[in-house]
Amino acid sequence: AMAQQTSRFAFTPIQAYGDGTVHVPEGYSWKILTRWGDPLFSDAPAFDPKKGVPAAGSDRVFGENTDGMELFNIGGHEVLAVNSEYVNNEVNLPHAAEGVPASADDVRTLQNLQGVTVMEIAEGQDGWSIVKDSPYNRRITNNTPMTIDGPAAGHDLMKTTADSTGMSSLGTFNNCGSGRTPWGTYLTCEENFNGYFGATGSLPADEKVAAGYKRYGINEKGAGYNYHAFDERFDVSKHPNEPHRAGYIVEIDPSKPDSTPVKRTALGRFKHENAASVVAPDGRVVVYMGDDERGEFMYKWVSRHIYVPGGETTTLLTDGTLFAAKFNDDMTGEWLPLTPESTGMTAAEIAIFTRTAASKAGATTMDRPEWVAVNPVAIEAYCCLTNNSRRGAKADDGNIRANAGGDAMAVNAVNPRETNNYGQIVRWRPENQDHAAAKFAWDLYVMAGNPQVHPDSPYAGTPNINTGNMFNSPDGMVIDSTGLIWIQTDGEDSNEGDYAGMGNNQMLAGDPVTGEIHRFLTGPKGAEVTGLCWSSDRRTMFVGIQHPSAPFPDGEGNLPRSSIIAIKREDNALVG
Ligand code: FEO
Ligand code: CA
Ligand code: CA
Ligand code: CA
Repeated sequence: AMAQQTSRFAFTPIQAYGDGTVHVPEGYSWKILTRWGDPLFSDAPAFDPKKGVPAAGSDRVFGENTDGMELFNIGGHEVLAVNSEYVNNEVNLPHAAEGVPASADDVRTLQNLQGVTVMEIAEGQDGWSIVKDSPYNRRITNNTPMTIDGPAAGHDLMKTTADSTGMSSLGTFNNCGSGRTPWGTYLTCEENFNGYFGATGSLPADEKVAAGYKRYGINEKGAGYNYHAFDERFDVSKHPNEPHRAGYIVEIDPSKPDSTPVKRTALGRFKHENAASVVAPDGRVVVYMGDDERGEFMYKWVSRHIYVPGGETTTLLTDGTLFAAKFNDDMTGEWLPLTPESTGMTAAEIAIFTRTAASKAGATTMDRPEWVAVNPVAIEAYCCLTNNSRRGAKADDGNIRANAGGDAMAVNAVNPRETNNYGQIVRWRPENQDHAAAKFAWDLYVMAGNPQVHPDSPYAGTPNINTGNMFNSPDGMVIDSTGLIWIQTDGEDSNEGDYAGMGNNQMLAGDPVTGEIHRFLTGPKGAEVTGLCWSSDRRTMFVGIQHPSAPFPDGEGNLPRSSIIAIKREDNALVG
């Protein structure tokens, strides 16, 4: 039957390249749209290929480490909203020893080069570029004022010295994947927010606060940004509630450059990967989300009110119910509501300590849930479970390894491999063709693997993996308007041992009906391929290249630059 089906793929798959540049199929070409440090305004500082972005004006350029992005057509203008997830200190501060920020200026530079960029782009004779000084151009950084909305807003755990109301905060952090609402706003997702905080004194003693720090990984050292040494707000020995104000989904209106971004605490606090929205048959808004940490959970949120096109949308993400996923081994599943009744926690506590609420409800520990995607042409959704080096493995005391809340990560049907270094993609179909339904049926769309190194073993992957399309660590994922699944990887690119034959990180396209997967793109050495969207005419595909190593893209001897590329067919036909 397979042989009789006409292939839906409009390209010839490419080999697994392992070099320093981007490869796309024959008949396609790519160009740079923008790179870290490119100016958004004519008064922005010039980029120095050896020194990077100067401190003054570092909030007037495109940020580093591009990630999730969405394109909005606003009154005929193509406006791209894009995340800058984090910074490579050594790249951004070449003057600082080992990249350790040594001054308030260094810290401010790093804070400015992360967050979100909103920018108008346009296609000219030489391809796509930024429309400098467009009124839509905007940088949202680690210091931009935000409104706090939803059940956690105003709670004591949200109050700080600078904000006695607990209703507003500064900055968005570790903006990883993206989403868009049916009403045309951008959702940016705060992932590894814990790493920005540190302590010059002792950690808070309050039991609830301390338990939260442990579950979310907040400690004295942080992840090396060293903000707490120069910017007191990030010193948790002085401002213990500041970390409670990060780890959310933030809604941004790209059509209103002066609008204040809103932290939607109703959608929970965890290491948010992305947010995939869909409207249920009755009009309620459903948002699927993953918490990217070993042994954490998958979530769904359902709004209380319904979406009416053209109606009031500013409070649609304020009220609703959060659910965490339970996957049964018989390939059924259910969404467990996180409510005061099911968890013994208040609504505000559920919004702030969501991981604890999901543990109490009995959700299934997962192999690092990354991007979630909803199929626009079928009632189903997918989540990349990228890998889990500790799944099923035992700790020194002989117990199965657990998440930071103590929930065991035993092998189960949806996370079926011990020390899972390749990852898998789970698919679920909601009961009654209704994404708001409490139950679903699931299967594995693909288990990645290496049939060359591990033939006839679970580590060979599912039958839709072969020596021509091997990859590891699926992460970014978007389903295009025709229903093709685009899979982006963030894994091991050594091309050796367990990873032999896989080449660099890459982007593949999958057919959800046949299971077939073909390699479309390989990235430069060292890079992750992440973030994908299309121009409104669907003749250009924009793809993010995060943390490449030199020589990408400016050549040997220059600093490597995270970039967005624009891919077109040479015949200018549709690309998705
Ligand atoms: Fe930022 Fe889980 O990727
Ligand atoms: Ca990711
Ligand atoms: Ca990843
Ligand atoms: Ca990354």
